[in-house]
Amino acid sequence: MSHGQWVLALALSLGGMAAHAVDGATGEREAFSRPMPGLSEDERGQFTRGRSLFNQSWVAAPARDSEVDGLGPLYNRLACVSCHARNGRGLPPQRLGERMLAMLVRLSVPGQGPHGGPRPHPAYGDQFNEEGIPGVPGEGRVSLRWRPVEHRLVSGERRTLRAPQLRFAELAYGPLGQVLTSPRVGQQLVGMGLLDAVPADTLLARAAQAKPDGVRGRVNQVWSVSQSQHTVGRFGHKANMASLREQIAGAFLGDLGITSALHPQENCTSVQTACQQAPSGGAPELDDSQLDAVTFYLAQLEPPAPRPLPAAELRRGQVLFARAGCAVCHLPSLRTAAQAATPRLAGRELAAYTDLLLHDIGPGLADGRPDFAASGREWRTAPLWGVGLTRIISEGEGYLHDGRARTLEEAVLWHDGEARRARLRFEGFSAADRAALLRFVASR
Ligand code: HEC
Ligand code: HEC
Repeated sequence: MSHGQWVLALALSLGGMAAHAVDGATGEREAFSRPMPGLSEDERGQFTRGRSLFNQSWVAAPARDSEVDGLGPLYNRLACVSCHARNGRGLPPQRLGERMLAMLVRLSVPGQGPHGGPRPHPAYGDQFNEEGIPGVPGEGRVSLRWRPVEHRLVSGERRTLRAPQLRFAELAYGPLGQVLTSPRVGQQLVGMGLLDAVPADTLLARAAQAKPDGVRGRVNQVWSVSQSQHTVGRFGHKANMASLREQIAGAFLGDLGITSALHPQENCTSVQTACQQAPSGGAPELDDSQLDAVTFYLAQLEPPAPRPLPAAELRRGQVLFARAGCAVCHLPSLRTAAQAATPRLAGRELAAYTDLLLHDIGPGLADGRPDFAASGREWRTAPLWGVGLTRIISEGEGYLHDGRARTLEEAVLWHDGEARRARLRFEGFSAADRAALLRFVASR
C-alpha cells in the first residue's frame, strides 16, 4: 500500500467510525420520532403526511399552495415543530428580553367561560398571540424574568431555584387589566396515542382509590367540542383537553391560527377588527383528512425504550422511587383499552409514569388560573417516560409546566402540596440515594 493509499484507507475507516458515532447520537435525537413497528403501506403514507403537516411552516392566505395557507391572523409560531422540536419539549427563555420560542402564555379573567372553561380576556382571548400576519397587529410581547428562590433541603443543604415572572410590553389592544396568566412550555409528545387509549374509567377508578401520604388525585372534566359534552380531560399541563384529536385541533387554532371543523372561527376578539377582516385560507383551513393525518402521526409514534441500567442499579432506583412515594402519582404501569383507534394501541401495558390525574402540587408551582375543574394549584402528573432524553432532544433542560427546573433534582424540589411527603423523603435520602433515584428517573 502506498502512503497515499494508506492515508485514504485510514480516512475511510475514520469516516466510517465518525459516521457510526453520529448514528448513535442521531439515534437518540430521533428517539421520539419513530413510527410504531408494523405500519402498512397506507398507514406509512398517512404517517408521512401527518409528519409533513406537523413540521411545515404555514403561510398567510392567500398563497399559491393552498395546502399550507391560513396562518393567523394572530398566532404564536409558524409550525407545530417550533415548540416541539423532534417531538420533544420546549425550553423557556433564559434571559429577560429573550423571545419565547417554544412556550406560550394562557390568559383569562376571573369567573367561568363557556361550558365552565376559563373565561377569555375580552380583548386578548385565552392565549397571548405575539404575532400577526401583515396588516394585523400581534398582541404584543411577553418575556420572563427569573426570580431566585432559596430552598433548604431536609438534609440542610441549600439550592437556589428560580421562578418566572412575566412582563408584558407593547400591548396592541389596550391594557390587560386584571388578568390571570399561565406560562406553559410545549410538552414532549411521547406516547400520545397510547395515553389517548387509556380508558376514562381507569382514571376515574384511580381517582376514587384511597392513596397513601394524603395524595388525592382528581379527574379534570372538560368540554369536548367533538362530543358536545363534558368528558374526562387528559392532555395539556392541566389535563385540560379531552382527546388527542381535540388537542391537535386546539393547537392549530390557538398556536397557529388555523381553523378546522372543530374550531371553524378564527380566534379574533371583538376589538381585533383587522383580525376579523383578514383573508381566510379556506373554510376550514385544515380539512378533516389533514387533522386525521396529524393525529395518526402523533398517535403512532413509538415511545422510546427505557435506557438500560445495570440490574442492581435498576433495582435500587425502583425501590427508592417507590419508597419515596413517587410511584403513587407517577404510576409505573397503566393499561390501554382492549379496543383502540388501531390494534397497535390496544391492550398495551404502558410505563408512562403518570396517572393522568390532577394534583395540588403546592403554592410554589401554582398559576392561580383555573382550567375547567383544575384549580390554580393543580397540575397533571407529568409522564416521566423519555424525560432523561430531554438534554439530547431539546438541546437543553427545563422541567415542570413552565420549564423553570434546570435539572431533574430541581423539578423534585418544587414538589409540595400532595407531593410534600414524597419530596421530604427524597430530601432525607443520602446524597448517593438521591443520585441513584434521579438516574433511575432519567433512564425511563
Ligand atoms: C407556541 C408553542 C406551541 C406550538 C406552536 C404548538 N404547541 Fe403543542 N403544546 C404547547 C404547550 C404550551 C402545550 C401544553 C398546553 C396546555 O397545557 O394547555 C402543548 C401541548 C401539546 C400536546 C399535548 C401533550 C400532552 O402530553 O398532553 C399535543 C399533542 C400538542 N401540543 C401538539 C401540537 C400540534 C399538533 C401543534 C401544531 C398544530 C402544536 N402542538 C403547536 C406549545 C405549542
Ligand atoms: C402528588 C403527586 C406526585 C408525587 C407524589 C410526585 N410527583 Fe412528580 N409530578 C407531579 C405533578 C403534578 C407534576 C407536574 C408539575 C408541573 O408541571 O408543574 C410532576 C412533575 C415531575 C417531574 C417533572 C417532569 C417533567 O416532564 O417536567 C419530575 C422529574 C418528577 N415529577 C419526579 C418526581 C419524583 C422523583 C417524585 C418522588 C420523589 C415525584 N415526582 C413525586 C406529581 C407528583
